[in-house]
Amino acid sequence: MAILVTGGCGFIGSHTVVELLNAGKEVIVIDNLDNSSEKSLERVKEITGKDVVFYKLDIRDREGLEKLFSERSDIEGCIHFAGKKAVGESVQLPWEYYENNIGGTLTLIDVMRKHNVKNIIFSSSSTVYGDPDSIPVTEESPVKKCTNPYGSTKAMQETIFTDIWNADKEWNIVLLRYFNPIGAHQSGKIGEDPNGIPNNLMPYITQVAVGKLECLQIFGDDYSTPDGTGVRDYIHVVDLAKGHVKALKKFDEKGGLSVYNLGTGKGNSVLEVVKSFEEVNGIKIPYKIVARRPGDIAANWCDASKAERELGWKAEYDIKDMCRDSWRWQQMNPNGYR
Ligand code: NAD
Ligand code: UD1
Repeated sequence: MAILVTGGCGFIGSHTVVELLNAGKEVIVIDNLDNSSEKSLERVKEITGKDVVFYKLDIRDREGLEKLFSERSDIEGCIHFAGKKAVGESVQLPWEYYENNIGGTLTLIDVMRKHNVKNIIFSSSSTVYGDPDSIPVTEESPVKKCTNPYGSTKAMQETIFTDIWNADKEWNIVLLRYFNPIGAHQSGKIGEDPNGIPNNLMPYITQVAVGKLECLQIFGDDYSTPDGTGVRDYIHVVDLAKGHVKALKKFDEKGGLSVYNLGTGKGNSVLEVVKSFEEVNGIKIPYKIVARRPGDIAANWCDASKAERELGWKAEYDIKDMCRDSWRWQQMNPNGYR
């Protein structure tokens, strides 16, 4: 039996494909290469010594999906990463975000159920908790209104999956709420390859370290956190990838609908991340404090004990590992896959 991975050429997808192959699974990847390169899969083959079947296919392409599911009757379930993910861009291009993320997911679900494949793991985000009333957040913490269309697509997709399951209990659906994935595979062969100037903290830091950007801007040092800078639950992408392999057991268990936080359960401030990066890699990161970024919250980290209890999954890597591995990837691939 095979696992269909949508968006499998991307950052989290490619790392998950490695862990699936390492666990002996057969993998089929589809991706429209909107935000990725097929090279990531060549690297996956180098790392694992195993083959991945790849189709350049858009999840909005109903005919293409129909053909795939007809030809591959061995697909037992799907891990669904495909989606647009840039917060700022989503404010400028809301239609494109709703059409791609929501439209694509609806088409995927429809084709899956027509072919009686009703197992799916979905990439949700800590963004659904908005600005939480108390931290750490548990899976029972309220889902709040999102401040941007990207976040809204995640919350809406969670609602869609929940309603689908309410109507048809044959589905097994796992909603994984990722905290802040950073790091890269220890081989340095695959990692995060953002287009243009990075919006997220770690790729910005590594591009300063490699000399492509001059200086990190730290968005605010007047938050009510110990050092005033924002606090997040950073998680190594390899740990995150392994969480997906563990979540597959919900298909066999006929687990119905389940939701898990995937994080380390620890928060680190921006300054702590910068210091860790400098320490483990022996590189100075010039920074300046600037105004807060609109839409940012002070702090968020999770209670990840449900995933440990029910999936037997726990993050193993710490912030130093994440800083070391992010840098190794950037150093070995100063221009990403280009
Ligand atoms: P990514 O952009 O590297 O990967 C997403 C992949 O989906 C890309 O390869 C892209 O080409 C592909 N894609 C987009 N639209 C598609 C479509 N219509 N059809 C086929 N392929 C399509 O992003 P990532 O960081 O690997 O994130 C994977 C998933 O996890 C996304 O759904 C993202 O929203 C979610 N997520 C990411 C983070 C994060 O910080 N990286 C946090 C929480 C949730
Ligand atoms: C962001 C998104 C969130 C998404 C997540 C994916 C916003 C508002 N939120 O979360 O929806 O799910 O990425 O991981 O974009 N920082 C700096 N300087 C920088 C970049 C970031 O100081 O150049 C700070 C931020 O203020 C924040 C922390 O670093 O305190 C982490 O930022 P980032 O990596 O962008 O992640 P989030 O804002 O948590």
